[in-house]
Amino acid sequence: MLNGKNILLAITGGIAAYKTPELARALKKAGADVTCVLSQNGAQFVSELALQSVSGNRVYGDLFSLTDEHEMGHISLARNADLIIVAPATANTLAKIAHGEATNMVTTLLLATTKPILLAPAMNWAMWENPATVENVKTLSVRGASMVGPVAGELACGEEGMGRMADIEDILEAAEMALELSGPLKGVLATVTSGPTHEPIDPVRYIANRSSGKQGHAIAGALAELGAEVTLISGPTNIAPPENITLVNVITANEMMAAVNNSGCADIFVGAAAVSDWRMADTKKQKIKKQSPGTVPELKLTENPDILKTVATIGISGGLSNSARPQLVIGFAAETENLIENARRKLAAKGCDWILANDVSNETDTFGGDDNQVHLVTRSGVEEWPRMNKRQLAKKLAEKIADTLLDNSRLANAHLTSTKDVS
Ligand code: CTP
Repeated sequence: MLNGKNILLAITGGIAAYKTPELARALKKAGADVTCVLSQNGAQFVSELALQSVSGNRVYGDLFSLTDEHEMGHISLARNADLIIVAPATANTLAKIAHGEATNMVTTLLLATTKPILLAPAMNWAMWENPATVENVKTLSVRGASMVGPVAGELACGEEGMGRMADIEDILEAAEMALELSGPLKGVLATVTSGPTHEPIDPVRYIANRSSGKQGHAIAGALAELGAEVTLISGPTNIAPPENITLVNVITANEMMAAVNNSGCADIFVGAAAVSDWRMADTKKQKIKKQSPGTVPELKLTENPDILKTVATIGISGGLSNSARPQLVIGFAAETENLIENARRKLAAKGCDWILANDVSNETDTFGGDDNQVHLVTRSGVEEWPRMNKRQLAKKLAEKIADTLLDNSRLANAHLTSTKDVS
């Protein structure tokens, strides 16, 4: 797994930094090409020369070196790596990267990278257990960073506790796993509906709406980026599908409902499609002809299935008798008036977990535009999100989903442990 990979080994200022030449050697032995980035504080514990000798590559350290910046050093370093290992990752470094700071070469390239990150924390046990560090570690895990260690033992300060950097073999094993695939939603199945539906009136005419599919497609892409296995069920759109998803194209609401059921069970369902509420009771086989002046045809409509409500209340049937409800069912509320009130009503009526309420009045340019502004309405309250690009919104939603699933699984594990304790 490590053979032929470009590994960036970022070393920050903890005593465990003295072990990094050994780590670089082990990575090289496994076939990786190792480039070290040494923070100023890291350089207090390990020499640049030692790392250069072992890795066989120059060691980067000075963020503002003119030659490096001439080649946009931090950007190309971040882009060329297959994996970035931060070892040791101090409490200070974890805090900085959790908050997107870019104050030295290590934090700058971590902010600039889109590649998997493996963190090997090392610090005093009290720092590790401090709620600030706990929160930072959680934030980074939700964003997809992998963690290895720390482990219990004697610490540099002489105290005993959880805080030693993981052993070299364990870091190597974690690096292999992180390369295999990273992302907090790895193993999670998601079904997303997107775009409008077209309901035929006759062979040449149909009922449609202004949905572009931009928001639903962006959500499918953002979930896939966090590692989820995504089925995107899309009505007719003119936009390219995101990468790494399974696309199912449909036209009508009935087809969308069937495709959702065919997608099989899912952990997450996001109904972003603007599904037509009605279709023709009797679609005409031939084009409806103009009649005598002053006579207009009467179109008789019938109700379409409510896909979101079906998934939230019955589940995804998959053609089997047992229907399974996804753990998290999320819908949108496209409103032109009484936004929050209508969204709350929809949340209750459809039985879903979250509703993203958006104002789709013409002046907001939400339908078809690149930006969106939503209120996240749940049973516990309303969160107003700022207006942002639909891709950014999708990323924020995907991170919130990952965060919630992580909390749910923690709760389930805690429950399991306490049940075991009792038994
Ligand atoms: N939805 C659905 N199936 C339908 C209608 C809507 O799955 N037949 C989903 C949409 O994907 C969206 C949510 O329900 O997530 C709300 O859609 P919206 O158009 O805002 O509301 P409607 O339920 O259609 O109600 P109304 O038109 O009265 O606002």
